[in-house]
Amino acid sequence: MKRLFDNFSLRFYFALIATQHTMANRGNFSGRLGFILAAAGSAVGLGNIWRFPYLAGENGGAIFLLVYLCCIFLLCYPIMVGEIAIGRAANSDAFGSYSRLGGKKWGYLGLFGIFAGILILSFYNVVAGWAFGYFLHISFGDLLNHNNFGGFFGEYVNDILDLSSVGGLTNSNLVFSLVFMCLTALIVSQGIQKGIEASNKIMMPSLYVILIGIIIYSLTLPNALSGVKFYLIPDFSELKIQTVVDGLKQAFFSLSLGMGALITYGSYFSKKENITSSAAIISIADTSVAFVSGLMVFPLVHFLAYKLNINPQEIGTSGPPLIFVVLPQIFYEMGPVLGRIIGGSFFLLVCFAALTSTVSLLEVPVAYLVDQKKWKRKRVVWLMALIIFVCGLPSMVSQGMIPALNSLPFYRGQDFLTFIADMSDICLTVGGCLMSIFISRKWGIHNMDVELVHGNSTYMQSRVRTFLHITIKWIAPILLGLLSVVIILEKFFGIENLI
Ligand code: PHE
Repeated sequence: MKRLFDNFSLRFYFALIATQHTMANRGNFSGRLGFILAAAGSAVGLGNIWRFPYLAGENGGAIFLLVYLCCIFLLCYPIMVGEIAIGRAANSDAFGSYSRLGGKKWGYLGLFGIFAGILILSFYNVVAGWAFGYFLHISFGDLLNHNNFGGFFGEYVNDILDLSSVGGLTNSNLVFSLVFMCLTALIVSQGIQKGIEASNKIMMPSLYVILIGIIIYSLTLPNALSGVKFYLIPDFSELKIQTVVDGLKQAFFSLSLGMGALITYGSYFSKKENITSSAAIISIADTSVAFVSGLMVFPLVHFLAYKLNINPQEIGTSGPPLIFVVLPQIFYEMGPVLGRIIGGSFFLLVCFAALTSTVSLLEVPVAYLVDQKKWKRKRVVWLMALIIFVCGLPSMVSQGMIPALNSLPFYRGQDFLTFIADMSDICLTVGGCLMSIFISRKWGIHNMDVELVHGNSTYMQSRVRTFLHITIKWIAPILLGLLSVVIILEKFFGIENLI
């Protein structure tokens, strides 16, 4: 009997050591602030500064903003809470979390999220590379001496191997995005606290300071107020189904939902902390950056219209070139010194925003390989970074360099980068839909409740609980399922004119 007991206690002791060992190996955020900054860093990204303003411009300004806000708080916030709860309850990566809580089969949903993360990072890093190059060329080169920015951008994204140096700097996008991926890998390789948390603690506050500085300046420019009006006074006649589809899609992408980034970050979050209030702060932090990015861009665009004596509508604010073509033109109009300062700061801001997001994207597959395959973090990080960088090459050369990728016959003549970006949107909404089904039909919404009580003792009696239940059980699966179908029809069959 004694032997049996010894045996048992010995085994228990080793099991305990092993758990402690793996927990210590996984790493943790040092506290609530570290987690919130890192998750907000993941959320605030190119989606806020590059995509949000042009989508708002295309969809009627203020009305888009209104729809977007409803999507964030009524649908996306509950999904965010659910994702973080899954990660923290399972204390594992995306695959490990789903399989631990729901069985091996559900693990495939985690793998699907990891795949989506790789897809997103592959094209995201290309656009981040463009922004990084612009930062260098505006701050230290002579980009602002061009005054045909449309032409410049076209050539810049087209010839990725352009090794000619302009003002002492290379023009090669291949180099810029490679450097950007290396920066991402360098941060992730340092681990959760020393890498991800520490870098976010520097970059996120800097980002806010730069953003506020530029807004204050842009609001003092002539005609700025007319831009503010376009942005803030809704015209309900502009409300179309397309506005809702775009708003929902954008809200999902912007909050980094549906692919496991927040499951992974949630798994490093202490049980002592409150998830519901942290998720609210993250949603507000992200939405405020998107909101103020619009508040920065539209006054600038209206200022340009005033300077050139044209109608603001004539300035093409639509599409990805907004920040790469229209904004440099505005910086040019500010004169050589001020243009360099404001323009350089703006692109530095874009780089910070992008880097805090690429870090979270890379962490998803890395956490999977570290947790499941027990690979060494440093080695996995560099290997994954290399693989994803190579996956991004077709997107990089799809901007004109390789004509076949510039106009895909099966994708209505669109380029490969757009194709991958659209596929990511679909993966996120499908992932979010299945996640809400997972919580309510498999893991059990009461188990989510149990997780949410940690750090929030009044949760069970709160109204937030009822709201989360209704959204996760009914609204999210139905709405996100519908949205996924609509996006697929819209993208592949071009039915956007029907809706
Ligand atoms: N939320 C990021 C942005 O707005 C993009 C992102 C999506 C990051 C999904 C991680 C996961 O730019």
